[in-house]
Parts: sequence; C-alpha cells; structure tokens
Amino acid sequence: MKRRRFAIVGTGARSTMYRDALSGEYSKTCELIALCDKNPLRMAAFAETLGEDFPQYCETRFDDMIREQGIEELVVTTMDATHHQYICRAMELGCDVISEKPLTTDPEKCQQILDTQKRTGKRLRVTFNYRYAQRNSKVKEVLQSGAIGDVVSAHFEWLLDTKHGADYFRRWHRDKANSGGLMVHKSTHHFDLMNWWMNTRPALVFAQGGLRFYGKANADARGETHDYARGTDPAAANDPFALDLSSDPELKKLYLDCESADGYHRDQNVFGEGINIEDDLAVLVRYENQATLSYHLTAYSPWEGYRVSFNGTKGRLELEVIENAYVSGKQDDHNFSKNVKGAAAAAVEEPTRLTLQLHWQKPQEIELPQSNAGGHGGADTNMLRDLLDEEQVNDPLKRAAGHLDGAYSILTGIAANKSMATGLPVTVADLVSINQ
Ligand SMILES: NC(=O)c1ccc[n+]([C@@H]2O[C@H](COP(=O)([O-])OP(=O)(O)OC[C@H]3O[C@@H](n4cnc5c(N)ncnc54)[C@H](O)[C@@H]3O)[C@@H](O)[C@H]2O)c1
Repeated sequence: MKRRRFAIVGTGARSTMYRDALSGEYSKTCELIALCDKNPLRMAAFAETLGEDFPQYCETRFDDMIREQGIEELVVTTMDATHHQYICRAMELGCDVISEKPLTTDPEKCQQILDTQKRTGKRLRVTFNYRYAQRNSKVKEVLQSGAIGDVVSAHFEWLLDTKHGADYFRRWHRDKANSGGLMVHKSTHHFDLMNWWMNTRPALVFAQGGLRFYGKANADARGETHDYARGTDPAAANDPFALDLSSDPELKKLYLDCESADGYHRDQNVFGEGINIEDDLAVLVRYENQATLSYHLTAYSPWEGYRVSFNGTKGRLELEVIENAYVSGKQDDHNFSKNVKGAAAAAVEEPTRLTLQLHWQKPQEIELPQSNAGGHGGADTNMLRDLLDEEQVNDPLKRAAGHLDGAYSILTGIAANKSMATGLPVTVADLVSINQ
C-alpha cells in the first residue's frame, strides 16, 4: 500500500506529537519525509529520533522541500501568525494541509487562506483536539440527541492556572502580533467547541478584557519584586513563576541550546516589560441561531479546568472538569513535555462531572470514563486516529474539523479583539467574506 508522504513545518514542542505518530503508530499508512523550520539547531535536535541525514530545510527553501521530496500532505506547527504562509503555499503547490490551531490570527490572513483553499480545492484540516476528549464528545452527543431541547443560552468559564496560564506570558504568545492574544490563540478551542456543540456560528461579539495580573505594571502596583529578565538569571532562583529551562532535558534541548540561532528566549519574566496580551477576558456572543454565550477566560487561576452549562427549552446540561487541582510552585512542575503535572497536583486525575437536569426532574449524573491516556484527556490520541488512519468510518459526532470550522472558531476571538479595541460590538460577517 502506498504511504501518505508528509512534511512538518515548525519543529517545536507541539510537533513532537506528529513526528512520533507519523514515524511510529501510523507508519504503515503514513511516512514522515522532511522537516522545515527557521531555527536549524532546533530542527536538528527535533530530528535526532528520525535517523542520520533526515531531510531538513530552512524556511526559505520550503518550496524546494515540497517539490524535491514529493510531499503530499503538510503539518503546520509554526508560530500562529505564520501559519497562513505555509498553509497557502502548500495548497498552491498541490498539498493537503493539517494545521494546528488557531488557523491564523487576523481577518486578512483568514481571507487569504479561505480564498486559496477555494481556488485550489485542497483539503485543509484544523486540529481541534478538544472535540475528541470523551467528556466533550459526550456533551455533543447529549445536545445532538435533543435531550435538553433547543439550546437558548450557554455559560462557559475557562481557567488557566499559574503554571500553564503563566507560560503564555513567557513565550512568543505574549506579543499579540504573534498569537492574536489568548482570545485567538487559546479561546479558538473554546469557541470552536461552542460552534460545534451548538451547531451554529457566531454572529455578534462584544468583549472586555485586560492585562490585570501578569506584566510589570501589575506586579509593581502590588508591591512585588520580580527583578530579572528570564529564568536563567540568578535573581529568578526562588520565584515560582520563573521557568528553569535547564531543569527539563526536553526544554533544554529544544530551546536553551538553540538560542544562538534565533535569539528566542522561551523563559521570559511574566512580570517583565513587553507583554501586550490580556490575561482576563469577558465575552458576550450572539449566534446565528439566536443562542447567546457568556464566556470568561482567566489565565492566573490557582486551579485549571472549565465549567460549561447549557440552558435548553427542555432542561439544562452542566459540565465541570478539573484538569489540574492546584499548582505546588515547585520547579519540577514545569515539566511540560510529557504533559506531566506536578506530583501533588497529579493526585487528582481530571475529575469530571456531567449533569443533565430536565424540567420537573431530579438531576442525573452522566457516567464518563476518567481518561488520562495521551495528551489533553485522551483527546490527542483520538484526534490522531481521525487524521492519520485511513480506515476511519463516518463519525456521527462530526469531529473532524475543516477550514470553515477553523475560520469560524477564530472569528469570535478576532471580533472580540476588535471589540476590546473599539469598545463596540462587532458583526462577524463584516470581518471576512465567506463564499463557500
Ligand atoms: N492543539 C493544542 O493543544 C496545541 C498545543 C500546543 C501548541 N499548539 C499549536 O502548535 C503550534 C506550535 O506551538 P509550539 O508550542 O510547538 O511552539 P514552539 O515555539 O515550541 O514551536 C514553533 C516552531 O515554529 C518555528 N517557527 C516560527 N516561525 C517560523 C517561520 N516563519 N517559519 C518556519 N518555522 C518557524 C520555531 O522556530 C519553532 O521551532 C502553535 O500554532 C500552537 O498554537 C497547539
């Protein structure tokens, strides 16, 4: 059987999952042929497990890689604001594309992607792994069954803790030009879940938010001293917010040891200068089907997880998920590479409660498997099967996400960014023209 010929562009932390899947479990149907990244040191470290002389291309030789290596499918795992370059060019060169979320970061790039996809007819998938977590799939199943009638409104709170949440303020994500801010970079997952769960699209968005916890001005106002540029500085030694890149072999290999090639510091002070993204955000959305959503994202919480509830014409569905019960503040809690939680925090294995309550009836707990297999509550494993296994049958929950799902998920966040900048509600249809 002919194997599907893949390349990966962007050889950082996230792409290790695709590397390992393509060269491991899915190597019967897929073949990883080549890599591309702008940092040659990181790319070489990333390629170590793939054998000597594995084909590696710098970003200016992307076209050469696609042509010379006969690439048919591209996985895009670069920094968010650069996704569009590779998505569009790969489709122009005849490839299908799997892009990490967010599809892109602003309306112009989104329009370029949609126009290129339409012109080339290539397949573009966006990797919304959260759809595949069993608890989130179950919510879709219950809502799709009509158990609570028509969904009229939803309330959604997402909490990022002082380990995971803080990490966005150390890395390239801290600059909105790179990530679109958390409204796009992070909330694309949550807004995608809402679109998919409620089978609708956003129409009108109003948002308020700000940088209220991280950043130098906030620390100064609280009288705190975090007087260092990055985690390697001696003054950072006792700050639980500082990341020690040398404490984790994977972090050291992929980032600390590769700094000479691009000057990128993955361990910047979360209470330093130069952060222009928000850490606390409130959003109100009206959907095309007239349902409304009130949403809140907090990036400095003592625990991590989410609560979402749906009010329907026949009753109510509530989901509560604790992904990380607390952060101990110990340095080894930062071991992100294998999704390891700190020792104390790991005692709670993502407890989840899903409750259905119909009018005039007692609440019923819906049984859920407590899964920790693979990243993101088992979601990554299930998603990879959908992306890379040709044997997939029709999915009644329609979890595979295409370019329109990618676009509509970021348009809520892009509209929220615009609303925060102008102080006014934003009509989503005014942002991008979607003629598909
Ligand atoms: N679905 C999820 O749960 C999930 C989790 C983590 C990351 N992600 C996504 O994966 C992507 C990568 O994130 P990451 O955490 O691995 O980041 P990272 O910084 O570790 O890796 C990004 C890589 O892209 C390279 N790069 C940056 N600009 C480039 C350019 N113009 N051309 C070529 N290479 C370039 C960098 O050198 C780096 O190797 C992001 O889009 C992120 O949103 C998704």
